[in-house]
Amino acid sequence: MVRATQSEIEAAVEALRAGELVAFPTETVYGLGANAQNPAALRKVFAAKGRPAHHPLIVHLDSARYLHRWTQKLTPEAERLAARFWPGPLTLVLPKAPHVLDAVTGGQETVAIRVPGHPMAQQLLTAFGGGIAAPSANRYGHLSPTRAEHVRDELGDTVKIVLDGGECQLGVESTIVSCTEGSVRLLRPGAVTLSLLRGTVGDVQIGADATAPRVPGSMQAHYAPQTPVELVPGDGLEVFAGSLNDQGERVAVLAMRLPLKTLPLVTWINAGRKPQTYAHDLYANLRTLDKAGCARILVQEVPGDERWDAVRDRLQKAAARNVTDDSLQATSSGVLP
Ligand code: TXA
Ligand code: MG
Repeated sequence: MVRATQSEIEAAVEALRAGELVAFPTETVYGLGANAQNPAALRKVFAAKGRPAHHPLIVHLDSARYLHRWTQKLTPEAERLAARFWPGPLTLVLPKAPHVLDAVTGGQETVAIRVPGHPMAQQLLTAFGGGIAAPSANRYGHLSPTRAEHVRDELGDTVKIVLDGGECQLGVESTIVSCTEGSVRLLRPGAVTLSLLRGTVGDVQIGADATAPRVPGSMQAHYAPQTPVELVPGDGLEVFAGSLNDQGERVAVLAMRLPLKTLPLVTWINAGRKPQTYAHDLYANLRTLDKAGCARILVQEVPGDERWDAVRDRLQKAAARNVTDDSLQATSSGVLP
């Protein structure tokens, strides 16, 4: 289901023009789309997500051809990144054109732009012609949707139309890079890795500086299931899960291997050792484990190399939800009860 029919696209474009919300697939995750030039439609996005109104949105375009309507002149680094990675899983934070709405930028001087490569997103964007502001199509702070049914689970009837493009190929959100005043900064890791970025523009700083734009997705508790998540070293999984079982606690486990023994009260998913497959399945696996009726989800720590940067970032943010809870703090730092 990679392409929509022409009548589906026409209905979606009509809905966008009427100020309604349209969810659509991208190669990363599903987006909750609204006409980026319609303030009332943008208010619906924030209401549907329960997202604080000052958090900026990504504007999606079908290509760089209308970029000048949204941004100031690009730096040479931004030009190179756009030429190399668009269409694709890269979002560029750029100096905004004067008319771009505050609801899109969060009142900042920059605007985030992405040209997704998913054929159905391309169909929609080309037919619509303008910019579509689209955060991930989930409630604020929740897991991003990677299938159309996740969007309905998250947002119900507040979305007028959900275009169903099947499973998202990559499964984690786009890499976000800010390109302003000669500085290039990686704000959120994704499928476009740091070494790919550095191979294209040379110097890339990591993380926002004090004056850099806000990225709510980079805040600590985010991308999280309802069930508390704890990161656990691979060699501690069975002992930890077993000791919780002994206390009568049901446990969910997201591991990179099979369990070494059968544990009665454990729901175990083996997500494997391939970073791309792991990322593709990550949010769907966490959704499954979230529904397993367990008091916590233990997630095996993933490797430290760059191929795991995006996954590790999302897992750390999912686990950060727990850090205010003292009892969980001890276990999440690896100390067994
Ligand atoms: O893969 C993706 O990027 C998906 C798909 C739907 O395109 N979208 C997505 O949107 O992840 P959202 O809203 O969930 O995350 C976008 C991130 C937010 O953390 C937001 O703060 C950041 O982009 N952002 C948007 N505009 C920004 C700006 N002007 N400066 C800094 N960060 C910005
Ligand atoms: Mg999001």
